[in-house]
Amino acid sequence: MKKKLVVLTGAGMSAESGIATFRDSGGLWEKYPIEQVATPEAFHENPELVLEFYNIRRRELLKAKPNAGHYGLAALEKDFEIYIITQNVDNLHEQAGSSRVIHLHGELMKSRSTGDESAVYDIDPEQPDLHIGDKCEKGFQLRPHIVWFGEMVPMMGEAEAIVRKAEVFVIIGTSMNVYPAAGLLRDVKMNVPVFLIDPKDVSTNRYDIHHIRKGASEGVEELKKLIM
Ligand code: OAD
Repeated sequence: MKKKLVVLTGAGMSAESGIATFRDSGGLWEKYPIEQVATPEAFHENPELVLEFYNIRRRELLKAKPNAGHYGLAALEKDFEIYIITQNVDNLHEQAGSSRVIHLHGELMKSRSTGDESAVYDIDPEQPDLHIGDKCEKGFQLRPHIVWFGEMVPMMGEAEAIVRKAEVFVIIGTSMNVYPAAGLLRDVKMNVPVFLIDPKDVSTNRYDIHHIRKGASEGVEELKKLIM
């Protein structure tokens, strides 16, 4: 039986793929205030701006490739039963070959009906932009399939159940500022080893964390040596 390795990833996981993080200096929230682009109120008040914000993110993603960290995690599936719980809306874990990826904050390459939340569509990479007037079959405007601030996180229950079964838990590239995602660490059982890969300090409520003070690519290499 392979051990269950659960990995919580954030924006730092994709930083080496050229995708900007949110809270580092020069991060996205410095250029675009959260309340103007990532809330239901923002979409109500200025839908063009919100759609354009995600159109830019999507075009940026289409130029990006997984980095050695994404590939390293995918390769670990040979020896571990791996579950990746990501706050990232990119699809770089999937592109690298990871087979169990849960997106807590939605997916950039999908759209969703504003009138029927179960109507979710893949976005064609050849025509990646969403515009006002793009509608679902029932005639409702399409929106990005993203969990905005103030919205429910539908995948949380599934993520918590997976974290409770973890035999090794790894956190990569998240400032652990955003709840409920950051609260998943509380669901990790006490005797389970916890690793953190991040070049900077990250404050958490656990004191027995093994901090690998490196970027995602080098950090995953080092993690392999520690858990194999
Ligand atoms: P943040 O921008 O808050 O944190 C990024 C973390 O990545 C920081 O701790 C950095 O030190 C670390 N980091 C930077 N470069 C790295 C590298 N090369 N390798 C490893 N780590 C690196 O991003 P998140 O914690 O992911 O939500 O943010 C969480 C959520 O807040 C996002 O999903 C997004 C945002 O608002 C929504 O939009 C709903």
